[in-house]
Amino acid sequence: MGKTEVTIFGPATVSNVGPGFDLMGFALEQPGDEILIRRNDTGRLVLKDESGCNLPLDPAKNVAAVAASALLNELKCHDGFDLVFLRKIKPGSGVGSSAASCVAAVMGINELLGNPFETSALVPFAMEGEKVASGSTHADNIAPALLGGITLIRGYEPLDIKHIPYPSDLWCAVIHPHLEIRTLDSRKLIPTEVPLKTALEQCGNLAGLVAGLTTGDYPLISRSVKDVFAEPYRINQLPDFELLRNSALEAGSLGTGLSGSGPSVFSLCRGEEMATGVGRVMKAHFVQKGIESSIYVSKISEVGCRIL
Ligand code: HSE
Repeated sequence: MGKTEVTIFGPATVSNVGPGFDLMGFALEQPGDEILIRRNDTGRLVLKDESGCNLPLDPAKNVAAVAASALLNELKCHDGFDLVFLRKIKPGSGVGSSAASCVAAVMGINELLGNPFETSALVPFAMEGEKVASGSTHADNIAPALLGGITLIRGYEPLDIKHIPYPSDLWCAVIHPHLEIRTLDSRKLIPTEVPLKTALEQCGNLAGLVAGLTTGDYPLISRSVKDVFAEPYRINQLPDFELLRNSALEAGSLGTGLSGSGPSVFSLCRGEEMATGVGRVMKAHFVQKGIESSIYVSKISEVGCRIL
């Protein structure tokens, strides 16, 4: 008799990382989602929310349940499961809240079914849940949330996901101002076509970022953390974003930008001490604006979603 219940941790993630719009992301050590998944004999998914986040309990509207159903449908499996949300990253925070739930749900059910899929093969199922949250099937939060580290989606058709090596003292400070920005809305602000000059700038920066991460070239990383596709159209949702970025850079950030579709803002830093200092400066920005915020200082996590 296999396991009948499991608790899974799905980490928060920073996506886009400047020029990697819809292509690059990395996993944080904390915060994250915790979901308890156990077999039931109803033949259905039954959702319980103990996270205090007021999550939808209709399986058709809950991103984790949509991802879990995609996996079960592929296997033509009619087993029932309870999904108990124990701890939840606040939805709309910009650190991959929906991805954390989706990967935790598919990894947990895969485990209880005896692992019919390798972990990397779970990405497309988790993406089905992400689609409900954002209206598009991007995997730049899903891939690092599931697989850990820094991931690059080289291509979507077919999915081609690669881990990018990075220096061991690369840390990140993330400030989460307590504002809610829904990815679905934030994506509507972005133009669907870009001029060639803009495309070239983004390609150069993404290639530069990958090269900088791979070789530990910090000045190159700094020059490359810049997004010209999405960020310019989104930053007005935050008060004085450029001021915040300049303060973080002056405090030693290697590169600062919107985390995913915002409102969280990330700063890549060399070492924990620098990340802590930059985090303090970013927090002060929102204190001054009268906006509450949470700060996360984390090493880039090599491990992604895991069984607790
Ligand atoms: N790449 C996505 C975006 C991440 O920027 O819209 C947010 O889920």
